[in-house]
Amino acid sequence: MFITVSGQKGGVAKTCTSIHLASVWADRGHAVCVVDADRNRSALAYGIRGDLPFAIVPVEAAAKATRSAEVVITDGQASSDEEELRHLAVGSDLVLLPTAPKARAVELTVELAQLLQQVGVPHAVLLVKVDPRQQRTAAEARQALASLGLTVLAAEIPLLAAFDKAETQGLPVYAACDDRGRSDPRRMAGWSAYQSVAQEIECLISKPLSAVSRINEPLPISA
Ligand SMILES: Nc1ncnc2c1ncn2[C@@H]1O[C@H](COP(=O)(O)OP(=O)(O)O)[C@@H](O)[C@H]1O
Ligand SMILES: [Mg+2]
Repeated sequence: MFITVSGQKGGVAKTCTSIHLASVWADRGHAVCVVDADRNRSALAYGIRGDLPFAIVPVEAAAKATRSAEVVITDGQASSDEEELRHLAVGSDLVLLPTAPKARAVELTVELAQLLQQVGVPHAVLLVKVDPRQQRTAAEARQALASLGLTVLAAEIPLLAAFDKAETQGLPVYAACDDRGRSDPRRMAGWSAYQSVAQEIECLISKPLSAVSRINEPLPISA
């Protein structure tokens, strides 16, 4: 299974999403490899800080390192270059677009989704950093994306300080602690959200493209 986590700007939780989906599938006993294709190499930096149950490799080392992986997750910033996007189409079962429920983030996702659609890349939007106190904003973003024909995953990732702590410690969010070593009280909410996302992705990519992206002509994809 080949998943690419993509977006046109930094700070939208691409690396956080790559690390956590990899953690979920590794936790389920799968051989997982994260390919860091982002110039800032933040997935590699995340892994070096702590202890993660899967390999993280720079894109230059991907060919060999991913040979035995059942799940390959590529963390990378998308370009709008059509040829590069065509390569994504060949290399990914699904491109996941993490998107915060904010106007500009939604606009950028719509732009990228349209480019992906033109080159026939199956893609789906994941709402991230959803503030539990602003559920209405998230619902509106979901509706706006869906009304343009984009597939938006039902699971969404809550805005939690535990993700920042986990990143600092180089661990999956379920192991996030504060400075005194006390477990973050909301850490399992973040972990179970990514577990639900992984489940949904497995269902999506075992179905024809029509279920993944409904904008235009459906094409079959392999799992
Ligand atoms: N759901 C979330 N809640 C709170 N903070 C988050 C969440 N997801 C990611 N973050 C934080 O947001 C920042 C940017 O996330 P990151 O995954 O590095 O984005 P990108 O890879 O798109 O640049 C990081 O500090 C990360 O810990
Ligand atoms: Mg990143």
